[in-house]
Amino acid sequence: ITIRLATIDDLQAMQNANLNNLPENYTLKYYLYHLLSWPQASFVATTTDPEIVDQDEKPATSQKQDPQYVAKGEKVVGYVLGKMNDDMDSTDKTPHGHVTSLSVIRTYRRMGIADKLMRQCLYALCETYKARYVSLHVRESNRAALHLYKDTLKFEVLKIEKSYYQDGEDAYYMKLDLDLEK
Ligand code: ACO
Repeated sequence: ITIRLATIDDLQAMQNANLNNLPENYTLKYYLYHLLSWPQASFVATTTDPEIVDQDEKPATSQKQDPQYVAKGEKVVGYVLGKMNDDMDSTDKTPHGHVTSLSVIRTYRRMGIADKLMRQCLYALCETYKARYVSLHVRESNRAALHLYKDTLKFEVLKIEKSYYQDGEDAYYMKLDLDLEK
C-alpha cells in the first residue's frame, strides 16, 4: 500500500470509493475544489497489482471493469479529503483544517490504511497550511470511524450537532489540537 497525494486523475476513483461507502456524497466539482484550493491536503491509498503490471500489453479486462483503477495496475483503495477552513462567517479566526471525507474500500479495511491517510492529512494541514487544529464531523453510530478518531488519533468530541445529517442522525463535532503535537 502506498499513500500519495491525490491528483485530478484520481478524482473519479475517489468519488466511486465514496459512493460505495458513505451516505454523504459529493459532486466531482467539490472534490476538484479541494484539490485545486489545497493541493497538498488530500491523499489516496493505492495498491499495485504486480501481475497486471507485468502482463504489459495484455488486455486487462479486470482492470477496465474495476472503477478503482486509475492507471495500469494502480488501484485506489482509500482516500482522505482535507481542506482549510474557508468559511468567511466563521467566528473562529484561528487557521484550522477540516477533514471533509475519509473512506477505505471494504476489502482493504482493518489494515491501518485510514490511520495512515489521516496522519498524512493532519501533517500536511499542520506543516503546509499552518492549521492549529483540525475538525471533522462523524455520525454517532459510526463505531469504526469513532474508534479511529477518538482512540487512535486522540480527537476530542467538542459538541453534538443535532440532526446534522439529512436522515436526522446526530453528528459528533470533533477536534484535534495540533499545537500540542509539536
Ligand atoms: N470497529 C471498531 N474499530 C475499528 C473498526 C471497526 N469496524 N474498523 C477500524 N477500527 C479501528 C482499528 O482497529 C484501529 O484501531 P487501533 O488503532 O486501536 O488498532 C483504528 O480503528 C484504525 O483502523 P484502520 O485499519 O486504519 O481503519 P480502516 O482502514 O479500516 O478504515 C474507516 C476505517 C475509514 C472508518 C472505514 O471503516 C470506512 O471506510 N468506513 C466507511 C466510510 C466511513 O465511515 N468514513 C468515515 C466517515 S467520517 C468522515 O469522513 C470525516
